[in-house]
Amino acid sequence: MMRLDIITVLPELFEGPFNHSILKRAREKRLVDLVVHNLRDFSTDRHKRVDDYPFGGDAGMVLSIEPIERALNHLKSQRAYDEIIYTSPDGLPFNQAEANRLSTLKHIIILCGHYKGVDQRVRDHLITREISIGDYVLTGGELAAAVIADSVIRLLPGVISDETSALMDSFQDRLLAPPVYTRPADYKGWKVPEILLSGHAGKIENWRYEQSLERTRKLRPDLLEEYPDKD
Ligand code: ADE
Repeated sequence: MMRLDIITVLPELFEGPFNHSILKRAREKRLVDLVVHNLRDFSTDRHKRVDDYPFGGDAGMVLSIEPIERALNHLKSQRAYDEIIYTSPDGLPFNQAEANRLSTLKHIIILCGHYKGVDQRVRDHLITREISIGDYVLTGGELAAAVIADSVIRLLPGVISDETSALMDSFQDRLLAPPVYTRPADYKGWKVPEILLSGHAGKIENWRYEQSLERTRKLRPDLLEEYPDKD
C-alpha cells in the first residue's frame, strides 16, 4: 500500500478533498495510507510558531527550517521515503507522466509551500523534488498538494473500479479524451452521434480515436508537436 504524508500549517484544508467520493473509498479500502500532519505539532516554540521574519527584511513571514526538519526526521525514522516533494510555483511543471511515476512509489512526503516560502536551506538540503501545478500563484501549497495527491491516488490499482478508465484519460496516451454522451439520445434536437448507437464496438473505438486526434489537433496542437508519432 502506498503511504503518503502531507506536512502543512493548514491541515483543515485537506478535510474536503480527501474525505469524499473516490479518495474516501480508496482510504477505506486501505489502497492508500494518507496522513496529514500539522507542522505546528513539531514546533518547540512556546507559542507553536513555525515561521519567522526574513533576514534582510521584506514583507511576510518565512517557514523556519527547524520544525520542518523535526517533522521530516520523525517520518524518516519510521520508513524510507522515495520522494520528499515541496510544492512551489517555481518547481518542475507537474504532468501526467510525473503522476504516473509517483504512483509507482511506496512512500512519499509532500511538504506544502507557504505563501512567502520556506527557508531556502529546506529546499537545498531536505527535499528531493520541487513541483509546480501550473504557472499561477496560489495562496499556499495545500491546494497543489491536494491536486498532486488526487492525480496519483486515482492511478493506484483498485481505486477506480473500471481498471481501463484511468488508462483512457486525456493525456494518458498524450491525446485529449473523446467526447462522451448519455441518455436521452435526442435532447431538443441535439443528437448523440449515430455511431455510438450503432453497437459496432470496433467502429466506435475507431471513432473515439479519431475524435481524440481531432480534439487534440484543435485544442492542444502542442501535445502532438511534442510527440509527432501521434500525428
Ligand atoms: N504554491 C503556490 N502556487 C503554487 C503552484 N502553482 N504550484 C505549486 N505550489 C504552489
